[in-house]
Amino acid sequence: MSEAPYPLDGTSGAQVVPVSDALGGEIRGIDLSRDMGDATFVAIHRAWLRHLVLLFRDQDLSTAGQVAFSRRFGDLDLAPVDEYGRKHREGFPEILVVSNVVEDGEPIGSLGALESKWHTDMSYDERPPRASCLLSVKIPATGGNTGFLNMYEAYETLPPALAGRIRGLTLKHDATYNSVGLLREGAAPVTDVTASPGTSHPIVRTHPETGRKALFLGRRNAAYINGLSVEDSEALLDEIWAHTTHDRFTWHHQWRVGDLLIWDNRCTMHRRDGFDTRSQRIMHRTQIMDDRPPSSGEMP
Ligand SMILES: [Fe+2]
Repeated sequence: MSEAPYPLDGTSGAQVVPVSDALGGEIRGIDLSRDMGDATFVAIHRAWLRHLVLLFRDQDLSTAGQVAFSRRFGDLDLAPVDEYGRKHREGFPEILVVSNVVEDGEPIGSLGALESKWHTDMSYDERPPRASCLLSVKIPATGGNTGFLNMYEAYETLPPALAGRIRGLTLKHDATYNSVGLLREGAAPVTDVTASPGTSHPIVRTHPETGRKALFLGRRNAAYINGLSVEDSEALLDEIWAHTTHDRFTWHHQWRVGDLLIWDNRCTMHRRDGFDTRSQRIMHRTQIMDDRPPSSGEMP
């Protein structure tokens, strides 16, 4: 049983409807295409910190509207170079198109129709994005659902012995593969996880706004726990991941056109189901930059 719906402060009639026991809240009664006062945004932001992922349905939102709403959460990053080596688009350089649609022989976006495994966006950066925001433009009849995972809960429920073993350790987040396992532009396949390109972050991070601790795992593929033998790193990572990717920490969202989701990368992971390559899925993503690295919340 999810928590009961409650009013969104600072609004007349808007509500927060928790969508699962694990995480996620739907905000009802807010039209994101209209100007939003600061009090409303503060309440939305508070709900976001509490539920980790917010869902707004039935939004008729332009690309400019998505950019404007995302920007309330912080400065936006430009879309990364995609797997085809393409830089950001003209007009809206903040928008990454996630799609399997091919027009005139050229894919219009990234990631195709493949499944993506649990990950946190761009965790191989020094300062991974604070948040990601996805707006659905076109969706297949089935498949392509997006799952989210509560990394606070994954941390808080670690068996004490396992929590003790990972205390103080850092993890190298590999930069070679994207979330569907394809090589990034110009990258070479990983043959030695200790030597592949990436950035190290603490395995346990402290969220700078909530003060809560969360696991920060990035992605499983080609990850490496610094200072351990590869064998020991693999074994410990398998143990941590087996605990973390448990259904009770997750919520899976089934998309409709006009859904906007915004999630906190500092305390969640996400994944998506693959879908039929003959159907079409188009999503627009923005990312909110973080000015602090994951280690910044750590107490001395
Ligand atoms: Fe992602």
